Amino acid sequence: MVMAFACDHGGFPLKARLLQEIQALGAEVLDLGTNSSAAVDYPDYAEALGRAIIEGRAQAGVLVCGSGVGASVAANKLPGIRAGLCHDSFSARQGREDDDCNVLCLGARVVGPELAADLVRIWMAARFSGAQRHMRRLEKIHHLEETY
Ligand code: RB5
Repeated sequence: MVMAFACDHGGFPLKARLLQEIQALGAEVLDLGTNSSAAVDYPDYAEALGRAIIEGRAQAGVLVCGSGVGASVAANKLPGIRAGLCHDSFSARQGREDDDCNVLCLGARVVGPELAADLVRIWMAARFSGAQRHMRRLEKIHHLEETY
């Protein structure tokens, strides 16, 4: 499995730890930057990560900014991207099992490196249930994308 990773300068402090974690879980990393704490704009990184998933260069991704909020708002503008900001284990698991999220968003100014690594581990281990009621809801999200 290829996991895309992208962050802005606010998310950069988590980058090394999270790349290590993703690789330790057996996934290949597609590193889309940023590569320093110099200020950049998070929508550019959300777009790069979302595009990698849409184009099939990665199956899922981890996207980090300072709060995780801006990154998740931006990523969710791309069709087919379901980005969830998860700072607790319940949301990380359920966001995959019920909502079939393909992007985990984190805020490096909110969670520390070990909690963030735990959340990545939980998120990557969880699988979409495929339950009919969740399929129906995902279909409605798809319809929203097509309508607007
Ligand atoms: C950058 O200063 C910061 O705004 C960004 O990382 C993120 O927190 C936005 O939601």
